[in-house]
Amino acid sequence: MDSKSQAAAALEAAQARFMARNPNSKRIHDDAVQSLPGGNTRSVLHTAPFPVVMKSGKGCHVVDEDGHEYVDLVGEFTAGLYGHSQPVITSTLQKTIADVGFSLGACTKQEVEYAKLLCQRFGLQRVRFCNSGTEANLHALAAARAFTGRRKVVVFEGGYHGAVLSFGHGVAANNVDKADWVVARYNDIESARKAVEETPDVAAVLLEGMQGAGGCIPASPDFLLAVQRAAAKVGALFIIDEVMTSRLSPGGLQSMMGLSPDLTTLGKYLGGCLAFGAFGGRQDVMSVYDPREAGALAHSGTFNNNTLAMHAGFAGLSRVYTPEASTALTQIGVELLARLRSVTHGTKATFTGVGSVMSLHVTDSGIRDLTRADVEEREDIKDLFWFEMLESGFWITRRGMLALILDTPQEEQDRFVDTVSAFVERYRELLTV
Ligand SMILES: Cc1ncc(COP(=O)(O)O)c(C=O)c1O
Repeated sequence: MDSKSQAAAALEAAQARFMARNPNSKRIHDDAVQSLPGGNTRSVLHTAPFPVVMKSGKGCHVVDEDGHEYVDLVGEFTAGLYGHSQPVITSTLQKTIADVGFSLGACTKQEVEYAKLLCQRFGLQRVRFCNSGTEANLHALAAARAFTGRRKVVVFEGGYHGAVLSFGHGVAANNVDKADWVVARYNDIESARKAVEETPDVAAVLLEGMQGAGGCIPASPDFLLAVQRAAAKVGALFIIDEVMTSRLSPGGLQSMMGLSPDLTTLGKYLGGCLAFGAFGGRQDVMSVYDPREAGALAHSGTFNNNTLAMHAGFAGLSRVYTPEASTALTQIGVELLARLRSVTHGTKATFTGVGSVMSLHVTDSGIRDLTRADVEEREDIKDLFWFEMLESGFWITRRGMLALILDTPQEEQDRFVDTVSAFVERYRELLTV
């Protein structure tokens, strides 16, 4: 049997077991398609033949509607850093509901406290709040355009900056005017330099220091510094999207890499488990939003300063995800990633990432250090991996991305490494390069 037929046979058997194990998820999905297109309201969560429907979570565990318990390695795509019902976050939310209220339709002292903390932690002179990472990027770009008086934005293939700002390989930007975008190759200094320096009218360069949705592909420090230099040379703003990566060190990935972006965008866990986004950086740039100035850009959002996110985000960052906790989690991630790379060594499978955020890749060539998201992956083997990890009690994303939750016990991490190792042994022939 060739590799594809072998994978197909294993996959068919795994899928049959999945269907037999998850009748309640199937029933709920059948109901969901009656009111949600394809039963889905968040594309990344769609899986065939139907998604697993979760019922509850506690700490680093989740339980599905069929009663299976999993170690949660999805970590809500990095936003779930604190875990489910983290005590500090939970008590802060309860106290805020009881003593403050949800949304006061007015400025609050708490938004000032949180703004100060974010500025200090991520080296921002000014910051504004919004409700998602997508919004943070849209508003940062609006600031860059207003500040420079230019229109175009350089982005990178495989980049993801939100629901309407996706530059997956071969996929045009959705919902945005294509004429506004120049899509360069990630980790390719010459391509980036050319795009930034030789395109007229460039307002900004927007990039992730590690492409998260693109497969946890880290940028080389040389590449990041070259992009920063090129942007400065032509007077375009250098915007780092740290929506996923701000957790990787006390000051985010930018401080690990010695970068000094003009603007930074933030989101995910910084909302303390609630919907959240923020963008900030240079005072002169951010002053385009200063309402005291004539002609300032308007940026209104009903829930921009909602009390729950302002209190929970602040409590999380000041009391739980302290600089020390960030450094420690990244070290735990570095060790886990090294072990996952070790047990997959010499096979078609590998893991890439930075610190506590990583992703599986499976390629026929067995490439270990991907530099771009344009490599053809063995999606059949990744599907098989997903089914089998679920069966062994690990909740992971279908695309293979993992984001560690704080305080995930060492024995669960060990068990995951052993489970991956057993998978490699079981499918040694299929995984041989
Ligand atoms: C790098 C990056 N930017 C922006 C976003 C969009 O954030 P949100 O889903 O909160 O809109 C994401 C989401 O995954 C992301 O990974």
